[in-house]
Amino acid sequence: MMPTQSSIPGVDALWPLCLDIVAQRRARAAPQQWDAGSPLAWDASQGFALRGVWDADAVELFDLLKPLLDRPREGRPWLIGQLGQSLDGCVATHGGDSNYVNGREVLVHLHRLRALSDAVIVGAGTAAIDNPQLTTRHVAGAHPVRVLLDPELSLSPTLRAFSDSEAATLLVCDAARAVEAAERVGAHQVLGVRGLTGADGSLNLHALTAALEARGLRVLFVEGGGVTVSRFIAQGCLDRLHLSIAPVIIGAGRPGLQLPRSAAMRDCMRPSGRIFHMGADVLWDLDLRAAQPAAPRS
Ligand SMILES: NC(=O)c1ccc[n+]([C@@H]2O[C@H](COP(=O)([O-])OP(=O)(O)OC[C@H]3O[C@@H](n4cnc5c(N)ncnc54)[C@H](OP(=O)(O)O)[C@@H]3O)[C@@H](O)[C@H]2O)c1
Repeated sequence: MMPTQSSIPGVDALWPLCLDIVAQRRARAAPQQWDAGSPLAWDASQGFALRGVWDADAVELFDLLKPLLDRPREGRPWLIGQLGQSLDGCVATHGGDSNYVNGREVLVHLHRLRALSDAVIVGAGTAAIDNPQLTTRHVAGAHPVRVLLDPELSLSPTLRAFSDSEAATLLVCDAARAVEAAERVGAHQVLGVRGLTGADGSLNLHALTAALEARGLRVLFVEGGGVTVSRFIAQGCLDRLHLSIAPVIIGAGRPGLQLPRSAAMRDCMRPSGRIFHMGADVLWDLDLRAAQPAAPRS
């Protein structure tokens, strides 16, 4: 007998399963051997798959999240970045207003990515301008650890992330400034990273990733802004990027991706990508690990 429309499971049934998979990963448990009656299947070569009939929204959400659910179990941390940008490549107005570049569907997706991650990372510009909560309040799921990258110690201790007790927060700076940072926000909210800041002021994001891994934080979501996501890409730290493009033209706003110049088109990064429609926005899911400069044309 064909299932009726109302009995077909959808996103509400799928989302708790995604959270279960992530909880197992956090516990470092081997993937469950899902029996034939369960809604998910798993095998070592194909990863997770949906069993049976699901509605179209659930199938699409599973497809979008599958790379995150299937990420390698061992080895280095796994990093995903996101930017919501206008047609002209801006993530906010010149003055920093970004509420909202994208529609509600992308906002909910952002909260889903937080819930599936161990930590959410933002730059000092985003923390200072948005004073974000960085919680999962639009979806079910635990809040990630909130990581505010503030090597210059410019952030106010009154920011919500330092004071609202909603979730753990870490101000990240170089180890050489950790004592100073602790005087501002308390030692329990400081992660001093040895070798984070170079003599020229550059940030070693591999050192940051390793320091987070040492705290058991292995799935890292780089939420913005443009400068920070670009720095992670330039240092080859991101596995995937979710770039959500909204049908809006901001004009001379804060730029999204800002990467070193390419001499010729053949030198450019060409990540393989998949497109997902989210309300009026288009989300590109980009595989940055596979992104190599295109081969020279003969
Ligand atoms: N649409 C989206 O998806 C999205 C996501 C997150 C954030 N945003 C928006 O992106 C903007 C921030 O992005 P961004 O690329 O400029 O910075 P960011 O990546 O969040 O942070 C990196 C830089 O913050 C700088 N910074 C800029 N303004 C600052 C301030 N007021 N206080 C302290 N540090 C500051 C520092 O720059 P120096 O090099 O000058 O030291 C630092 O290197 C905000 O307007 C935010 O609303 C949009």
